[in-house]
Amino acid sequence: MTKMLDFEIDKKNCSRCGQCVADCPARIISMPVDGYPYMPIEKEGRCYKCQHCLAICPTGSVSILGFDPADSSCLACGYPEPDKLETLIKGRRSVRRYKDENLDPALFQKLLDVAWHAPTGVNSRQVLFTVLDSKEKVAQLRDEVMAGLGKLIKEQALPKKMESYANFVKIWEEHNIDIIFRGAPHLVIASAPMTVPTPEPDCLIALSYFELFAQANGVGTLWNGLAKWAINDLLPETRHLLGIPDDHLIGYSMVFGYPDVHFTRTVQHYPALIHRAL
Ligand SMILES: Cc1cc2nc3c(=O)[nH]c(=O)nc-3n(C[C@H](O)[C@H](O)[C@H](O)COP(=O)(O)O)c2cc1C
Repeated sequence: MTKMLDFEIDKKNCSRCGQCVADCPARIISMPVDGYPYMPIEKEGRCYKCQHCLAICPTGSVSILGFDPADSSCLACGYPEPDKLETLIKGRRSVRRYKDENLDPALFQKLLDVAWHAPTGVNSRQVLFTVLDSKEKVAQLRDEVMAGLGKLIKEQALPKKMESYANFVKIWEEHNIDIIFRGAPHLVIASAPMTVPTPEPDCLIALSYFELFAQANGVGTLWNGLAKWAINDLLPETRHLLGIPDDHLIGYSMVFGYPDVHFTRTVQHYPALIHRAL
């Protein structure tokens, strides 16, 4: 049996506090009374690869999967004030008007890198972000989608509950107003293999994280059901055009870009629906 996970303890610094043992969700780290934590090779296959052992170690003595704890961000005082986070959550709005410019590529990459830290069921970490990284690419997809929808309309093949798409095509053709992608310069589709334990929640959580971090960075976002249904349900050939793997479930799509709209205050909602059971 070969060692795969590189679970290593820096014995010079390990205080033998046992936190890595106690927090391991798979309970596969052992510590003898007179020794240091270790992971038996035969148990490695049960590891979630969640890295809680690396994250929790107070002295930075645990490395796993080849990751050096010194390369992790320190959490002390690093979190936003709860009030600020509350304002972000309440102040986030759907953006339907965008500047006609591409996002700074470094920011584009950062948004995806940070969203990639979202949790996934059993830590499967298989969410794929299919992105359109320029307004020209979104325009190309829009042309394909509008043409495909136009064909369905002509053939009277648009399902009854999707008839409003005929109106969207008409508005696009007659007024150049894009109700589907809202003229956004970028699109992200989160998909995941159908075989992972929780593909749909994994995608939705990743996009939720993406949205909040994007808006914290001054980037507007819009959950885009109209694009998702068009791509996934009405025009499956666009899935192929975009190269989304056949064995993937499309979780959702989201458009984004620099907003051409500025919101001044939060909206107000009625009290939360809460059912205190038992
Ligand atoms: C799952 C989901 C799908 C959505 N799809 C669309 C869409 O295709 N087009 C659109 O203009 N808005 C879409 N929205 C935005 C909602 O209409 C919007 O969230 C709601 O009106 C509340 O506005 P707010 O996001 O600014 O709070 C979607 C929102 C969600 C959560």
